[in-house]
Amino acid sequence: MESGKRVLLIISGGIAAYKSLELVRDLRRRDIAVRCILTDAGSQFVTPLSLAALTEDKVYQDLFSLTDESEMGHIELSREADLVVVAPATANILAKMRSGIANDLATTALLATDKQVIVAPAMNVRMWKHAATQENITILQERGVQVIGPEEGDMACGEYGMGRMSEPAALVEAIENFFHNAGQAPQKSLIGKKAIITSGPTHEAIDPVRYLANHSSGRQGHAIAKALAELGAETVLVSGPTQLADPMGVTVQHVKSAEDMLAACEAALPADIVVCAAAVADWRVANPPSEKIKKNGALPSLDLVENPDILANVSQLDKDRPALVIGFAAETEDVIAYAQAKLAKKGCDWIVANDVSPETGTFGGKNNTVHVIDAETIEDWPTLSKEGVGQKLAARIAIHLENNST
Ligand code: C5P
Repeated sequence: MESGKRVLLIISGGIAAYKSLELVRDLRRRDIAVRCILTDAGSQFVTPLSLAALTEDKVYQDLFSLTDESEMGHIELSREADLVVVAPATANILAKMRSGIANDLATTALLATDKQVIVAPAMNVRMWKHAATQENITILQERGVQVIGPEEGDMACGEYGMGRMSEPAALVEAIENFFHNAGQAPQKSLIGKKAIITSGPTHEAIDPVRYLANHSSGRQGHAIAKALAELGAETVLVSGPTQLADPMGVTVQHVKSAEDMLAACEAALPADIVVCAAAVADWRVANPPSEKIKKNGALPSLDLVENPDILANVSQLDKDRPALVIGFAAETEDVIAYAQAKLAKKGCDWIVANDVSPETGTFGGKNNTVHVIDAETIEDWPTLSKEGVGQKLAARIAIHLENNST
């Protein structure tokens, strides 16, 4: 039984094109019809035959093919779909989309479409970071194009960095969200709301060159900030030291220590939403010396004092308490029980609990399996990419604020 949902998938030329085969299979499993346009460069990486077999449909490649045009004109190709997805989206196709260049079937269909477009960029890290690509992405986003990824990791070219295409699961999730929202682009339902998100680890000075820290990558907090901004919230991200690029459309305050993080949050208040996703160091060295501690045979003793608890501080504000304060609970055992205790102790409204025992690979990893806990309910979410968790959490926040607005 077909669901009646139709995706036009444009595959441009990149090694990540192999992931698009999996994307097609996953969409077909959900009874979503997929029609493919394969660019010339794309056909160097995947064959029309594999795509035709997986889509159970003809694959469109040529703007000037008489048969293609008589069966399905390029305008119709984009019009008859509910959603257009470009995966992988190379730097080249993004530049053409930004400029309105239409010199092959894919770019002509993209210029002709009036449907929502999702792009999944995939390219070398330097191409991604180039000012031209960044500008193209910003403009496309301003025009309403939804951008999924790219992600950080090892690249086919042997380098490491930002530029890997997001996994098919993250794309499937965005596509399902699109259909779930009745075929609309994500509603800008948080326009007029302000959000503050803490993210990453904190570094607590031992002396001018050494510090105490933890393994947090900041990926989850950054993804939440990005998702809230995408829903229209004025978003301030207070980030500890991370390797991550600043998310687009977000004001980022870079801090080092827990005390700096608290000060930056206080400066950014008042807000409607506060999400404390940072893995704040619990202790700091009481009086770090201003000079490097010398290794002279005697072991230094570190006098530790407790750091301020940002989440508890914000949750317990008397004046201008945010409407929704959300904490995270990273535990290695009894995740739910500890999270429920934390909800009560800190006074926040929701706790997002996750298991960070080493075998889950959550800390520093790409995926997260979370439970969202409030005073009444425990919601178990499936394993999602951290971007997926960010989007689902942002949507839940938007619904909650809408239901509780006076
Ligand atoms: O107390 P614990 O560290 O387990 O609580 C985790 C939650 O509290 C997270 O949301 C974290 O961001 C927040 N937290 C904080 N300030 C601290 C310690 C934790 O905001 N000093």
